[in-house]
Amino acid sequence: MSADKVSAERSRGNVIPLKGGENEPYGAVLVCGGGIAGIQASLDLSASGFRVYLVEESPTIGGGMARLDKTFPTGDCATCIISPKLVECMRDLNIEVLTMSDVAALDGEAGRFHATVRRRPRSVIPEKCTGCGDCWQSCPVTNVPEPTPPFSPSQAMDAEGAARLQPIFDRHLNEPGPLLPILQDINDDWGYLPRPVLERVAGHLAVPLPEILRVASFYNAFKLEPAGRHTIEVCLGTACFVRGSGLLLEHIEQELGIRAGGTDKERRFTLNTVRCIGCCALAPAMRIDGVTFGRIRLNMVSNILERFE
Ligand code: SF4
Ligand code: FES
Repeated sequence: MSADKVSAERSRGNVIPLKGGENEPYGAVLVCGGGIAGIQASLDLSASGFRVYLVEESPTIGGGMARLDKTFPTGDCATCIISPKLVECMRDLNIEVLTMSDVAALDGEAGRFHATVRRRPRSVIPEKCTGCGDCWQSCPVTNVPEPTPPFSPSQAMDAEGAARLQPIFDRHLNEPGPLLPILQDINDDWGYLPRPVLERVAGHLAVPLPEILRVASFYNAFKLEPAGRHTIEVCLGTACFVRGSGLLLEHIEQELGIRAGGTDKERRFTLNTVRCIGCCALAPAMRIDGVTFGRIRLNMVSNILERFE
């Protein structure tokens, strides 16, 4: 089938035929593994006009990346990258996703392989399941979480800190999902999230401290140490990164003697990274206190920093 015919079929929402004629090779490809590589390969193959069978042994596609927080080297949110691909893959009429499946046998030759795929039972009819969760109540296999051990803060908190914190707790009493609003209020009040305060939050909400630190370190808006008088934001979005903002960040780190996310001893600068500040044509770019600097060369950095006392 020609590429034009394939795109015409796809635009009509039709499934691409498995093969063109008796003696032609199959127009189908088997992809093993539904991680990010398998998903992307399936999407690319489908876009090239192939019927795709994506075989994944676990109950869902997404693999390790779906469980990651951020990705190296740009620190972009892993979920933001993989979610659109998951949706696209599940909706693509030319990709058949076979979860809880293994390739049991493979024979034939290049262009005409025959694969035997063994599917394990799900015990539900996936097409009919709405994910309502009612069956959880009747499930004979119950996951009993371990109780959270009693929390004992490692650092003392002064009376003034406790008096500032109590109204924040009171404000979000009985609120569903109070962690983020409480962290926002603390960040606004203190200007950052002091460790002793976070330990009190852990005790108050009965949430493990590592979980609170995971949330606090995920969002750029939260600071884990007091901020400097000026905030530098180096863009590590794709356009800036390919034009050298990684080197720019390293250069500023050396110049100030701090790492990204840190503040220098004089509390003059806090150095942060951001993803795309909307001026990709000026890459590599950075912002200081909201002022944008573009097409930055390393020898310009000292002059720029001197403007901020
Ligand atoms: S009870 Fe709800 S979640 Fe469970 S199988 Fe039926 S539709 Fe799916
Ligand atoms: S990637 Fe840096 S401004 Fe867009």
